[in-house]
Amino acid sequence: MSRTPTPLVIDQLIDDRRTRIIVCCGSGGVGKTTIAAAVGLRAAERGRHVVVLTVDPARRLAQSMGLTSLDNTPRPVTGVRTGRSGDGADPPGSMHAMMLDMKRTFDEIVESHADPDRASQILANPFYQSLSSSFAGTQEYMAMEKLGQLRRADEWDLIVVDTPPSRSALDFLDAPQRLGRFLDGRLLRLLVAPAKLGGRTGLKMLNAGFGMVTGVITKIIGSQLLRDVQTFVSAMDTMFGGFRERAEYTYRLLRAPGTAFLVIAAPEPDALREASYFVERLERDEMPLAGLILNRVHRSPAARLSAARSLAAAETLQGLDDSESSALGIAALRLHAERMRRAESERKLARRFTAAHPLVPVAQIPAQPDDVHDLNGLRIIGSAFASD
Ligand SMILES: Nc1ncnc2c1ncn2[C@@H]1O[C@H](COP(=O)(O)OP(=O)(O)OP(=O)(O)O)[C@@H](O)[C@H]1O
Ligand SMILES: [Mg+2]
Repeated sequence: MSRTPTPLVIDQLIDDRRTRIIVCCGSGGVGKTTIAAAVGLRAAERGRHVVVLTVDPARRLAQSMGLTSLDNTPRPVTGVRTGRSGDGADPPGSMHAMMLDMKRTFDEIVESHADPDRASQILANPFYQSLSSSFAGTQEYMAMEKLGQLRRADEWDLIVVDTPPSRSALDFLDAPQRLGRFLDGRLLRLLVAPAKLGGRTGLKMLNAGFGMVTGVITKIIGSQLLRDVQTFVSAMDTMFGGFRERAEYTYRLLRAPGTAFLVIAAPEPDALREASYFVERLERDEMPLAGLILNRVHRSPAARLSAARSLAAAETLQGLDDSESSALGIAALRLHAERMRRAESERKLARRFTAAHPLVPVAQIPAQPDDVHDLNGLRIIGSAFASD
């Protein structure tokens, strides 16, 4: 027996004033940025004061939200229609949007944790520069950091967070910890240890051991880089506590009542498998899952004509005559059959997900004929957030 999932009504989530943070996650390319922007716009037009934190939005979508430069600051979005009913019954909302600037965010943490001299020493360090602009996980860490900052600023009553385009949705939860562990890590400590222990007595043996380790590492990564790492770590020493504390703060925020995760997936096997992992992980970590969004679902306008009958009709027509108009008809019938097949296989995948996770509410967003790149496009996506 196949179960029908509980419908996920996103409007209920955004109309509930207790909802303060909505995190949109999912594997690469499933529509995280689009859904985050659509949720933000819909919420603003239903009276909430919203900020949307986007990561790497497509250029036209960014422009439509007034985001023309990567300046790490929330900008007001113009063109938001406030007061949904137009009769003044709804209080006017507002929308801000920003693009995450990973390096700038990292620099700001350094600046706020170290005195100016030390900060500029860290910022100029080549090892820091490569870490802050390329280390796998930095983007995830900085997205979480930004979320923490926005929450602390307390200027908005709803924060919608888009997550980085990682292959796996789990990276969003794991990468910050990985980076934290790295910055906090034994390897880095080991690298600076010889310099620190050098002056002390009674540690000669230990020191020799460290010396050997450092020697090996020097061979692998080169002495200049090692020196950079060592100065970086000495300079960062005072900040280790800060990083851990911040990561813990954000982690608590993600588990707090008022936070809701939306897991987004395309109706395709890989994306749904990822979504399954993510749902299980949220459960394990006791993080508040609102539900699954199946994005880009295909529906046929003439669902009563089955794929098989449509194909049979195409074949009959083909046998009858070879005029241009009947060729067109045949093509249309084949296209319809193809759409019906696709819709059926999407339904099957959705049923399989629900069989494995019967308690997870599901919303479906229809595939649009074109990319979504302006407020109107976002509004159309948002119209699927209503209860029917
Ligand atoms: N329902 C939809 N119908 C049609 N196109 C869509 C829909 N949702 C998203 N798109 C389009 O799919 C593309 C990818 O969407 P988006 O950038 O939101 O995905 P993403 O998950 O943020 O990707 P990444 O992992 O790279 O960050 C965009 O061009 C977007 O306009
Ligand atoms: Mg994206």
